[in-house]
Amino acid sequence: MSAKNSLYPERVLSEISKSRGIELPKTQHKIVIGDSRQMDEVEDNSVHLIVTSPPYPMIEIWDDLFRNLGCKTFDDMHNYLSEVWKECKRVLIDGGIACINIGDALRKVDGIFRLFPNHSRIIEEFERLGLITLPYILWKKPTTKPNAFLGSGFLPTNAYVTLDCEYILIFRKGNLRRFSPKDPYRYISYYTKDERDLWFSQIWDIKGIKQESDEIDRRVAAYPEEIVYRLIRMFSIVGDTVLDPFLGTGTTTKVAMNLYRNSIGYEIDEKLLKIIKKRIGYQETLLEPKRLKVEFILKESRIKKEIY
Ligand SMILES: C[S@@+](CC[C@H](N)C(=O)[O-])C[C@H]1O[C@@H](n2cnc3c(N)ncnc32)[C@H](O)[C@@H]1O
Repeated sequence: MSAKNSLYPERVLSEISKSRGIELPKTQHKIVIGDSRQMDEVEDNSVHLIVTSPPYPMIEIWDDLFRNLGCKTFDDMHNYLSEVWKECKRVLIDGGIACINIGDALRKVDGIFRLFPNHSRIIEEFERLGLITLPYILWKKPTTKPNAFLGSGFLPTNAYVTLDCEYILIFRKGNLRRFSPKDPYRYISYYTKDERDLWFSQIWDIKGIKQESDEIDRRVAAYPEEIVYRLIRMFSIVGDTVLDPFLGTGTTTKVAMNLYRNSIGYEIDEKLLKIIKKRIGYQETLLEPKRLKVEFILKESRIKKEIY
């Protein structure tokens, strides 16, 4: 299946299910404008897969958000994210998987230029919560400035390696997930040999998406649909529920809809609601009530007023 076709397999899925006499499920999608540190709308042990990308600690575009939350240090920022990771553990089923896209940060603090290893902090936190760390993926982003090296030019020893990879960390809650024998939804959710060979290798070479020029889109740093598409196909089956506690522009919801998975997304910034609706083609989904149900919940967020 070519990368282009593979992004929209609804037709393929409906052909497979028809040929096997299996009816595809009507899926439900909840978009909560609120704070994922408290996901009251999600029951314990009810989510099969989490795919998300949080605000990155020590990366400039997230400075305002963290500052307004009262997070001054690297530790404070990770303590904030940890409150969400704790909720993630609560809502995941036994055998459920969490995939977290995160990049490390390079920054000069107190006159010293250094790395802030977000990925290792998140691994430590998930381990502390008792989840199992699985082999992770390195997402190699094509650099927009191939010659932008940092440090002492061509003279040793004070130059720095360029950060051109982000991480997709993968964790499992509890034991291996179990299925009933010949579970029909599991069987129609298979991947091909080509897909497996590409997706289960450690380095993914995927173009980042071009951020639009307006302030909100640039600040939200959306991830490419291809990443979410692969992760959902690798770690969930048709009819499962996928959660994104940092929904941003709605990428996870959109891909989950296309793949016949249910979804729940939390986004604290209510200004993004309009963008999310556009992203998921809300008008079109209204025309498909037999296939999809979409619900929006606008909560009074605890920190919304502090941010804006
Ligand atoms: C890196 S962006 C996610 C981008 C998203 N993956 C996309 O493709 O558009 C992180 C998002 O998390 C949101 N956020 C931060 N703290 C949150 C919280 N406690 N609850 C819900 N959303 C939060 C931010 O407003 C931001 O939109």
